[in-house]
Amino acid sequence: MCSQSSYKPVRKAVFPVAGLGTRFLPATKVMPKEMLPLGDRPLIQHAYEEAREAGIEEFIFVTGRQKEMLEEHFDFQPELEQVLESRGKTDLLQKVRETEMPAGKLFTTRQPKALGLGHAIWCAKELVGDEPFAVILPDDVFLARKGCLAQMVDAYNQSGGNMMAVTEVSKEDTARYGIVDIAEDNGKTVAVKGLVEKPNPEQAPSRLAIMGRYILQPEIFGILSAFDKGAGGEIQLTDAMLKLSKQQPLHGFRYDGKRYDCGTKLGFIETNIAFGLADPEIGPQVRKTLASLLDETNETDSSHEAA
Ligand code: UTP
Repeated sequence: MCSQSSYKPVRKAVFPVAGLGTRFLPATKVMPKEMLPLGDRPLIQHAYEEAREAGIEEFIFVTGRQKEMLEEHFDFQPELEQVLESRGKTDLLQKVRETEMPAGKLFTTRQPKALGLGHAIWCAKELVGDEPFAVILPDDVFLARKGCLAQMVDAYNQSGGNMMAVTEVSKEDTARYGIVDIAEDNGKTVAVKGLVEKPNPEQAPSRLAIMGRYILQPEIFGILSAFDKGAGGEIQLTDAMLKLSKQQPLHGFRYDGKRYDCGTKLGFIETNIAFGLADPEIGPQVRKTLASLLDETNETDSSHEAA
């Protein structure tokens, strides 16, 4: 990480976790979507670990009803630790201890109604104060040698301003993302002159899509305070960022690695397979299991065709 930077350091990260997670109902009727497990850790823990790797010191959860489990996951669990210790399960004990948030570093604020991502970020206004901050959407996860946010913090320390993770998507997929209108393409970073929320392929200004990692300046809160509604009747973060880009630089950052979408059923299954294959402990078995499952499916398909 770059230690010599003329810009204020990014010390705080906001985790908006107050959404309803409707695409996962009924799994998310009571359990927060961000508690869905990817491997042996819930999505929120993957997000927390990525933030820590990026040097984040304060973790701000924007929560809502039935989201208490997300805070509890990061609590000290003395009974569990005692049992693991007495059974000599040191590996598991270590894993449990890694989930404990340092004292005084977890902050929560409530979003009473899920009015949109922009509104969720606005709810963290007082906790963030007057400094730059990161935003992590826990349902976007990255497989990368270096965490996506850590890469962005390095780039931010050189450039300052506002930044969002971006990647090229296929033309047909532009309608699923916020799409960037490029002012200048510098390879790793792009200067942004416009943003369009979920454009049809014909209207998309580029194929560069925004992914769920941001570094923002505190002036975004003043813009969000207008509570302007955008696409889907929600208070959109991209609309506020577009307004902010008229006053301050806004960069897209092309990260190294691959992003996975855990916000949809298909994406969640794909992510679990990808992480399973990349896991040094179980990867080879996952590969074998997948191959035999595919063989079985092919056999069943051909016997159906023959019948
Ligand atoms: P999504 O767009 O995936 O919405 O939010 P969602 O409500 O979680 O899921 P669906 O669309 O109903 O299936 C992306 C992130 O922003 C948070 C969500 O918790 C998720 O982490 N969010 C979204 C909020 O905190 N508040 C909101 O009003 C909307």
